[in-house]
Amino acid sequence: MENETIKMEVFESPESFNPDIVESAVKPGLFGKDIIYRDTIGSTNVFLKRLAQEGASEGTVVISDEQSAGLGRLGREWFSKKGENLLFSVLLRPQLPPNKMFVLTMIFALAGIDAVQEISGLNSMIKWPNDIYIGGKKLGGILTEFSVVQGVVQYLVLGMGLNVNWNPEEEMTLLYPTSSIFAESQEKVSREDILINLLKRLDVSYYEVGLDSERTEGFYEKWNEKSLILGKTVVIETGKERIEGEAAGIDRDGALTLITSNGDERKFLCGDVSVKMSLSDQRNF
Ligand code: BTN
Repeated sequence: MENETIKMEVFESPESFNPDIVESAVKPGLFGKDIIYRDTIGSTNVFLKRLAQEGASEGTVVISDEQSAGLGRLGREWFSKKGENLLFSVLLRPQLPPNKMFVLTMIFALAGIDAVQEISGLNSMIKWPNDIYIGGKKLGGILTEFSVVQGVVQYLVLGMGLNVNWNPEEEMTLLYPTSSIFAESQEKVSREDILINLLKRLDVSYYEVGLDSERTEGFYEKWNEKSLILGKTVVIETGKERIEGEAAGIDRDGALTLITSNGDERKFLCGDVSVKMSLSDQRNF
């Protein structure tokens, strides 16, 4: 009988997310009361919106290792690889008017970039309205959805996809330059640690926004400091028009102000922004 050589290849399979670690670390805070984990889900935002309509309490968190129908902004798809990134949504029931909802997206994004900084040492930025960028590539995205009845906000769902341990270069179908913590640092980090850090920060910031303290003003300042586009020449595409101008700032509703080449001031509540780069910038971006 011939000797048979059996070749075995060992694939490193990603570990499932452990929600218990998160729950015990964020208790007794707002986000430690009800943490729901699903191995696979359609979309954490869609799932949490349904729970919100059924009366789920403020602070409920839904986390998944994989989404079969992950949603991005402007009806796009959010793509991620099973078990490698963070995919989660949180439920808030803010006592704020609808035009103040942007501040909540803002503190969510800031909690994200601060958590990434503390856990991985990487310095990421915010690209209006709610993308997290690093080195000219997308590290994460936020989808904010809320329900208003007769002018009163019933609930708000903040969903984030953050690229942690995958290698986006392996993917052929990504819409834009994409990165991850691993791609930037060559180190795998604990998704649980990032989420714990982020939720603790969000808890504190949300409390401060509720007090409507001067700290709320500080969030706008920090957001501007961390903005990738402020002071730069950008192109905004709204689906109806494409306008070039200098990104001058965001107002309290989250609208982006552009100063066009003829000096006009235009405000935009949504759209896709890209930075127009000079040749020397392109080399350094
Ligand atoms: C974007 O950049 O377009 C926003 C992406 C938001 C993706 C996250 S992943 C968790 C949550 N559930 C979803 O279906 N979408 C958000």
